[in-house]
Order: sequence, then C-alpha cells, then structure tokens
Amino acid sequence: MKILGIETSCDECAASVVEDGKHVLSNIVATQIELHKMYNGVVPEIASRLHTEWIRSVVKEATTESGIDLSVIDGIAVTSRPGLVGSLLVGLSFAKGLALAINKPYIGVNHIMAHLYAPYLEHDISYPYLGVLVSGGHTIISRVTGFNEMEVLGTTIDDACGEAFDKVAKFYDLGYPGGIAIDRLSNEGDPKSFNFPNPSLHKGDHRYDVSYSGLKTAVVNQLDQFRNGNSEKTKANIAASFQRAAVSILMKRVKLALKDTGLKRLVAGGGVVANSLLRSELLDLENVETIIPSMALCTDNAAMIAGLGFHYLEKGIASEYSLNASARVPSFRKKYP
Ligand code: KG4
Ligand code: ZN
Repeated sequence: MKILGIETSCDECAASVVEDGKHVLSNIVATQIELHKMYNGVVPEIASRLHTEWIRSVVKEATTESGIDLSVIDGIAVTSRPGLVGSLLVGLSFAKGLALAINKPYIGVNHIMAHLYAPYLEHDISYPYLGVLVSGGHTIISRVTGFNEMEVLGTTIDDACGEAFDKVAKFYDLGYPGGIAIDRLSNEGDPKSFNFPNPSLHKGDHRYDVSYSGLKTAVVNQLDQFRNGNSEKTKANIAASFQRAAVSILMKRVKLALKDTGLKRLVAGGGVVANSLLRSELLDLENVETIIPSMALCTDNAAMIAGLGFHYLEKGIASEYSLNASARVPSFRKKYP
C-alpha cells in the first residue's frame, strides 16, 4: 500500500509517500524557521497562514518525487492531534478534500505516536519497548506495546524538555531554533562550569516524571548561585552546563524506568533526540538495545505520519469526515492507580 502522509502540526509543512509503512519514496519538509526567526518562536497565526499557502505544492512535490501518481495512492494519513489547532486544521482539511477527490480513505493520526514510529522506517523493531518521546511540546517515558498502544509511565510536570532548550536560548539570545543553537554552542563550552539542579521527584506517582521549570529558573534567574568556582559566565559555558543538566534529568528517569520495567529495548523519537549529548547517552546505555531515528526523522516530518497511518488503513480503519483537530491528547496524562 502506498500512503501519502501530511504533517502540519507546528511550523513544518511536510508531505511524504511511504510504501507498506516502511519504504520512504519521498519525504518533503518545507520549514518555516526563517519566517518565525525574528519572533524567536513559532507564531501560530503565521504558521497556519503559511501552511495554507504551501500545502498544495508540498504535496505535489512529494508525489512527483516518489514517482507515484495520486491516482495510485491507496490512502492518506494526516496529523490530527496534538499541535497548534490552526496549523493542524490546514493539513486535516487538505487531506479530507484530497481523499474525497481521489475517492480513497484517510486516517487522522497522533503526532506523538508517529514520532515513536519514525525509527521503524529505518529499523526492524518488535514490541514491547520503553518509548522515550522528547519534543518541543512533550516529554514522555512510556511502555509501548503496539503501534497505537502506549502506557505513559512518566511525563513532565511543567515544561517539556525542548521547551526548556527553546526558552533558555531565547533568554540568552543564543540563536533560533533554540535546541540546535544550544547543541552547537555547547561544543565550545565547559559543561561543568555550572552545577544546575536536578530536581528529585522520586516519590510515588512521580517516580518517572521530569520537571524542567526549576532548571529553567536556575539558568535564567539564579546563574551565580550555581557557578562552579570562578567559571566564566560565557554563553558557551551556560549552554553546555544547561544541556548537561537537561539531558541528565531525563536520563535519570529513563534508567530508572528501564530497571523497574525490565524492558531491554528502548526506542526514542522527537526533535530533542537530534541532540548530540542525548543521542550518545541513549546509545551508551548498557544491556539495552537503543533505537533512535536518523536526524532527519527526529524532527517533524510526514514520513512518520504515512508510516503509522499505513497500520490503520491496512486494517480498514479510516477516519470520518467529521474528525476535528485537537490541540491536546488527554491520554498522554498518566493513569494513576
Ligand atoms: O519533534 P519536534 O520537531 O516538534 C514537536 O513535536 O515539538 O521538536 C522540536 C523541538 C524544539 O524544542 C527544538 O528546540 C528541539 O526539538 N530540538 C533540539 C535539537 N534539535 C531540535 N533540542 C536539543 N538539541 C537539538 N539538537
Ligand atoms: Zn513533533
């Protein structure tokens, strides 16, 4: 089955054709980064307007590059949740219109599950595994037992990991997008020049939860308090020390979850998994098979949407035309006992 994937949940306008949930025939990502740069963050109104202007040519480019005519597409998969509603609606409405026009089924998929699906496009993976999703909007440690089955073990109690990267970068004017800028700048700094806090949430229901607002406050408002001796307050030193702390907060919970669940396989996804330090720490985990996507499949793309969508469509599961976009997914909250 050849599935056309469409992704417009945030600031990437993307389309892709994937065969049988595995073979990526095209993967077009038109990024809006340059147009949000002057605001140091994604402006929702601008994002949705640009998606409206770009979507048609992005989809056309994806089909042309795949060599597959729309008439032989078997179905369409589109991100319907979570994300910026105005942006999601552009992709979703386009997908519905196209599905009607070519008389093929379409399925609205969950962006987060799609991030965890991305590594399947490059590797053969079997369930269950510890799913680690780290993006700009989510930080989730989970037990994944199927393409649409995920039990959330831990999540952030405040900011998402990527959000902390973006906020710190914005405050110190380190560059945009924040995550990549901090990653690059960290290479020039000493990660031990500041000893930022790693909050303890180890008790009861919060065993695998993370918190990033304390780290953000420390880096932004209490820098001197955490300075190691006479370390210089350079941007590179701040970036490197922040990155070390941000990755350590996550890795501590990941290690705990691996130990407690006994899971021997870890699959990670989401934009922050493009981070060089996080990648090397995940790959260095002992006695665990770690599978992470290549850089291009970490950040938002439509190949992961088409790949995941295939598993619904091949089972005859399709969405109704009444499906709406949702900014949030309530099931990403933990199930408390
Ligand atoms: O998955 P994604 O593209 O979009 C969401 O679904 O949120 O993730 C975007 C996030 C942003 O917060 C961005 O700063 C972060 O991923 N990011 C990184 C790196 N590349 C992207 N964070 C740290 N290091 C990077 N190299
Ligand atoms: Zn994403």
